[in-house]
Amino acid sequence: MTAFALTADAAAARERRAAELARRISPATQVRPGEPLARHTTLRVGGPADIYVEPASEADLGAVLDFCAEFKLSWLLLGRGSNLLVRDGGFRGVAICLTHPGFAAIEVCGPDLRCGAGARLKAVALEARRHDLAGFEFLEGIPGTVGGGLRMNAGAMGGCLFDLVVSIRCMDRKGLVRELPRASVEVNYRQCPTLKTEIALEALLRGRTGPQAEIDARMKQFSSRRRQSQPAAPSAGCIFKNPPTIPAGKLIDELGLKGARVGGALVSVEHGNFIVNDRNATAAEILELIELIRARARTQRGIALETEVEIVGE
Ligand code: EPU
Repeated sequence: MTAFALTADAAAARERRAAELARRISPATQVRPGEPLARHTTLRVGGPADIYVEPASEADLGAVLDFCAEFKLSWLLLGRGSNLLVRDGGFRGVAICLTHPGFAAIEVCGPDLRCGAGARLKAVALEARRHDLAGFEFLEGIPGTVGGGLRMNAGAMGGCLFDLVVSIRCMDRKGLVRELPRASVEVNYRQCPTLKTEIALEALLRGRTGPQAEIDARMKQFSSRRRQSQPAAPSAGCIFKNPPTIPAGKLIDELGLKGARVGGALVSVEHGNFIVNDRNATAAEILELIELIRARARTQRGIALETEVEIVGE
């Protein structure tokens, strides 16, 4: 038995609780007890969630939140898991994944795109291009969803998601839905504090009309820059936020840490701020490598690196 294995009683209790949740929502919503979260993160690591649920509608999402409140269960919101490191013991509570097609619509309204939280950022970039809407090109290579991208104000190539936001629709912890104009949302570099307490359901994004040839050219240029400078192996994108004085990737490169390894976790040789899952890494190995890098940055350069990836679980 591994350190994280459940007793038969605990597994049965988990099954019963998942079945109780399933009774309260529509059959279109998937509920799975003990789902390995490694399947739902781009780093491909992470133990099981007690309950994993993919709500098919806002009503079901509200019912899941009610259920969590009633039984005092913690919950965790997942998009594509592209900025998430789940520890090997998994998550004690309910992992809510907003990737059901019910949350992934992209609707064109003049120069705006109304995008569901579960829509992939790449799909948003492609839909914008199809309708001659410029300004969305930098989203092409960000491996997340609209919801995850809003939560961390994802960015690339000098742009960030909130540059495009007109308004967002959110649900609070009690299931109340409201629309927030951009001006009333607090946004910083790689974080949106408002979305620590609210769940983004949808965003209204505004581009500008532009010739498709120019949009195409920009997308190709961004994609080629990304392919030249970032690894293709499984990762969570940049591991650390850029400190004010030097990009984290450059710092890690200067510290000679590219290629450093703990078990299956490897500092990318292509870009110092990426840790790739090279050979069936565990979350523990990735965390050890993160700590090794932070210690070297602190002792050799006096720089405190802060993780950009969110670390959850036990
Ligand atoms: N650099 C090195 N060695 C490296 C990596 C980078 O010397 O190993 C140098 C580069 O030559 C460049 C500078 O560091 O002069 C910055 O590198 P880069 O242009 O790759 O940008 P970055 O600051 O490392 C940011 C975002 C990325 C985004 C890229 C491209 C952060 C933490 N990272 O990276 O976003 O894709 O710009 O626009 O802000 C992410 O957030 O997960 C992410 C991948």
